[in-house]
Amino acid sequence: MITPHGDPLGRIGEPDIGGQCVYVRELSAHLASAGHNVRIYTRDRSDGKPSQESFAPGATVVRIPCGPSGFVPKEEILPHLPEFIDAVRNDLEPHDVLHSHYWDGGHVAGALHKEGPWFHTTHSIGKLKQAALPDKAQYRYDERIRIETDTYRGCDRVIALTPMEEDQIHQLYGVQLERIVVIPPGVNARVFVPAEDKAALRRELGWPEDAVVVFTLGRLDERKGFDLFLEAAGRVVARGTSQKPLFVLSAGDGSPQEAAERAKLERIVESRGLGDALLWLSVLPEASLPRYYGAADVFVLPSRYEPFGIVMLEAMACALPVVATLAGGPATVIEPGRTGLLVDPTDTDTFAAALTELIEDPDKRNTCGRRGRAIVEAAYSWEIIARRHAEAYDAKGGSDAR
Ligand code: F6P
Repeated sequence: MITPHGDPLGRIGEPDIGGQCVYVRELSAHLASAGHNVRIYTRDRSDGKPSQESFAPGATVVRIPCGPSGFVPKEEILPHLPEFIDAVRNDLEPHDVLHSHYWDGGHVAGALHKEGPWFHTTHSIGKLKQAALPDKAQYRYDERIRIETDTYRGCDRVIALTPMEEDQIHQLYGVQLERIVVIPPGVNARVFVPAEDKAALRRELGWPEDAVVVFTLGRLDERKGFDLFLEAAGRVVARGTSQKPLFVLSAGDGSPQEAAERAKLERIVESRGLGDALLWLSVLPEASLPRYYGAADVFVLPSRYEPFGIVMLEAMACALPVVATLAGGPATVIEPGRTGLLVDPTDTDTFAAALTELIEDPDKRNTCGRRGRAIVEAAYSWEIIARRHAEAYDAKGGSDAR
């Protein structure tokens, strides 16, 4: 597994540590428990973590020095990748299966690939991010899209997270459909489970028992659309609801990289008078997440563009109805009216109306939540998803994801 910017054992919610890290960690652990020998190469952030760390029998993270010590934003990592490539090269066997992640991983794998099969998961697509967030020089779209194009065309199989992404990779990057395989991410359905006693969890967290809790979480990054969530929350509060809502947002760890986005959100909280209707928490420890989902009533994924949204699966596994963005993968998972609602988050009126609908209808919340859990059990457990990856590797003649 090659994931330069995303350490799979990083603290989720820190800058550039997100769903990709959970995906690589869980996929690797489940492949390893099925007998594969998995090594995961990632950049050493010099944050005190060991240079090699085994986290499940057969799964080891190898941290590679790459550029200056400390955090380097993923958009600025390219000049340092030759050092990474040289270090990993010595560790590989010619027939190893390579599975690269995101454009930085694809760039490394392209330089290292020999006889073994090479798989690549996009995690996010430059041309779609550019469409959602144009005119942002800091994202270096030209460079990224050039590397993505080489990677998608050079690898043996691109793993698309949804049929929609399969089509986008085909249409936007000219990759033949036969060279794309669709496998969604998974969720640990034994860790993320419905709450047995929501009221007790509420008391534990100090949340009011009588409010309808509308929860969202993620990295404090403009793509995640938390400004849009706060705008919609403000509209719900201004219009009034029959049941009292409490909006809970977990985002941000105080990093300087987040300062501009944080200031933008603070201005909205102030100007929309959200006051007591909002609880803004910093990044939550991953182990505590099932309790937070369990204590909530509705989950929201307000991204401007979301390739998939692993947090949506976590919420569904905890039997929450989901209000998710129409832009990207959630539209292939959420069944409107049956597991949640799909909205254009930039349209504050319809977004607020969707939130109000679920805030005011406990029966709908329950039926949507139960169906979401059933869908996760049937199709999205990591056991199922890891098996699908292993079958794809085998079909290309590989056995070890290393
Ligand atoms: O690095 C954090 C992360 O969320 C990864 O999990 C993901 O692959 C990537 O960012 C997506 O980045 P973007 O769409 O911003 O390029």
